[in-house]
Parts: sequence; C-alpha cells; structure tokens
Amino acid sequence: MSMVADLADTLARRRALLGTPYRLFYSEPVELVRGEGTWLFDADGERYLDAYNNVPCVGHANPRVVDALSRQAALLNTHTRYLSQVTLEYAERLLATFPAELGHVMFTCSGSEANDLALQLARRWTGNAGVIVTSHAYHGTTTATAALSPSLDPAMVAIDQVELVRPPCTAPDFTEDPDAFGHRVTAAVEALAARGVRPAALLVDSVLSSDGLVPDPAGFLAPAAAAVRAGGGLYISDEVQAGFGRTGHMWGFERHGVVPDIVTMGKPMGNGYPLAGLAARSDVVDAFGRERRYFNTFAGTPLACAAGLAVLDELTDRELVPHAGSVGSKLLARLRPLAALPAVREVRGVGLYIAVEMAAGAEPTASAESRRDELTAAVIVDRMRENRVLAAVTGPGARVVKIRPPLVFSEAEIELLAGSLERALGVG
Ligand SMILES: Cc1ncc(COP(=O)(O)O)c(C=O)c1O
Repeated sequence: MSMVADLADTLARRRALLGTPYRLFYSEPVELVRGEGTWLFDADGERYLDAYNNVPCVGHANPRVVDALSRQAALLNTHTRYLSQVTLEYAERLLATFPAELGHVMFTCSGSEANDLALQLARRWTGNAGVIVTSHAYHGTTTATAALSPSLDPAMVAIDQVELVRPPCTAPDFTEDPDAFGHRVTAAVEALAARGVRPAALLVDSVLSSDGLVPDPAGFLAPAAAAVRAGGGLYISDEVQAGFGRTGHMWGFERHGVVPDIVTMGKPMGNGYPLAGLAARSDVVDAFGRERRYFNTFAGTPLACAAGLAVLDELTDRELVPHAGSVGSKLLARLRPLAALPAVREVRGVGLYIAVEMAAGAEPTASAESRRDELTAAVIVDRMRENRVLAAVTGPGARVVKIRPPLVFSEAEIELLAGSLERALGVG
C-alpha cells in the first residue's frame, strides 16, 4: 500500500471511528510514533522539531517522569479517600510555589474540570452568578466552561450571566495604558448589574492564549482584579497555559503584580499524565467544604502526584523556569525583525510563548485551496510542517502562528525554527 493510500485509509478510519468533532493539524496530517525531548518522530524515523507542545514541558518521554510513573504504578495507585504521603508531599511542594494567600490545593484531571470547580467555589463564596471573560477566551469543554469560551462557540456563551471584555490592544495600534483593561472590567460589572446579575468572578488566562497571546503591558491584570473585587467577585487566574514556567516565571500572574483568589492549572502539570487542579484562598475552599464534599476518582492519586513531583524536580534541578525566560527572549529577538515584512502584523511573546500575527486572516468559510497563495497563519504552519517544524494557529480570525515548544527547547534549536519560519514566509 502506498504512503498516500495509507494516509487516506487512516483518515477514513479515524473519521468512521471518532466522527466529525475531531480536528487534525495541517493539510497533510502527521502521524507520530515516538518523542524525545523537543523532538517527535514518525513511523519512517523522520524527526520533527516540536515548537508547539506545552504539555511535555520537561520533554517528551522524560526519563525522570517515566521512572516516577512506572515505580509508583508498580507499587500502588488508589484515591484520595485513603491517606497518601505522595499526595501530601506534592500538595506541599506545589503550594510552596504560590504566594502565602493561596493555602489549599484541590486536584482534578483536566484544566476544564479545574475551571469548572473554580467557578463552583467562586459562586459558593460570593453568592453571585456572573462571570467576566475575555472576548475570544477558551476555558474548557464542560458545559459550564464551554459557556465561558467564546472562541469555541459564541452561541454557547450564557448571555445573561457572562460579560465579554476586549483584551489590551497589541502593536502597532498600541495606544492603551495598563489601566484600560481594568476600566473595561468595571464596565462589564456595570453591564451585568444592569441585568440584575452580580459577578462571581473574573476568569482570565494570564497570557490570553486563545485571544492570540496578549502578554503585555505587564501589570494590566492588577487593575482588572481590583475592578472585579470592587463588584463583589473573585479573580481567577487560568494558568493552564501560562503555568509551570512558560513565561519565565513559575506563574503568569506574577508578571502582573497581583495575587489571585483562585489559580487553575493543568496541561504541563504531569508532563502528559492527566493531572490538573487549583490553588485557592483557604477561606474560599473551606467555605465550600462546610457544605459540600469533594471527590474526583482519578485526581490527586499517588500516581498522578508522582508525575507532578517528577515535573517539579525537573523544573528545579534543570532551572527550566529561568531557562524559558532567557531562551525565549533570544528566540523572540531573533523573530522580531520578521514584523517588518508586509505579511506579518506583529511578533510578540513572553518566555517560550511567541505569537507571529499575520496581516491576513483565514476565515473558516474560505477554502484552503483558494487561500494557498495568501500568507495566512494556516499556510505558514503547513509550510513549516513540510520542513518538519511543528507549530499551530490560534487567535481571532486564526491570524496567529503559535510557537510554544516544550521548556527544554534549547538555544541550538533557535536557528532551525527561525529558518523554517523564514522559508515559510518566503524569505531567508
Ligand atoms: C487557558 C485554558 N484553560 C483551560 C483549558 C482546558 O484544559 P483541558 O483541555 O485540560 O480540559 C485549556 C485547554 O486548551 C486552556 O488553554
């Protein structure tokens, strides 16, 4: 069977088995069989530079994580209704990475569950129902979090209880002061009030990933947190994308000089093992606990926590958080001049998270074929994939090439990535 027939057959099987909701990356999808560090390998042994995956933050198939998981799996895996030193050790180590105001941790199996639980805590604590999110936010896949995810399906957003706020402007139109976002949160509180709704929370991704990555101006989240608190709500920092060192800081909110009431986290937390959760003010968690029990079968098990501990050990021993800051700044400096090209609107980023925003958007209605000549983000990532560098597309209008490699991405890999992007843009 030829490679083409093979691909066609795999695509047909996938469609027959999984149905239509599943999407693939790239016009020519990639089938991967192995990973190591920042590299991914297909069945023919071709290797791809991974410039996209944030989950394997300490590297694909990280030996320390694999070892911790296999040892614990061979020993014991139960749940949080038994005592476990591993779970307590992990909770202690994790809480030590947060400001003292955040005194309890609760475990979940996904970022969606973490946001869903945070919402329940905030609603219970405040007695309010309203939620403020950014205009192209993504917070998860449960019914409650999908209703707070306009980037997923604006029609799902619960209009009575939800107010959308526009993120800070990015260059070249950048004219806003850092307080402007906070003023829009105040306006959102007033808009909710006009419908008789009070805010339970401002829920915001601290790097605004699905809004196209908006890390700056650093500090803009502090007035926003003050604005929602003035309206009686809590500030929930969604760190599912930014957390565990991606920005060159352990947590994305640190750049904004503000302490959240609740922090949600996931993705890189278990380096691929489904480990997620939240850290929150003790009074908020304990108020919830007085009325409700919390049990989540697979969450916070010794196996999950063994993975989490190995990730923290790797981050610390290999100094990957400062590494993300320094290698990320070098990568950004290398890519920034590309913004001078007419096809590129802006190159921005923080740590190992970089957005190359294209001038042309790719509306979902346009057929891929008719857009091949236009340098959309989708065309760029297809071309990068052809020279075996994996990136993806995000943001409103699918305008942004999203570069977000594992934190073990090295300086030696900068040129390979930059060269691939330049060739895709028709320069270099
Ligand atoms: C900011 C943000 N929050 C929450 C989620 C949901 O996490 P999960 O896919 O683990 O449910 C995601 C996933 O992409 C995310 O990017």
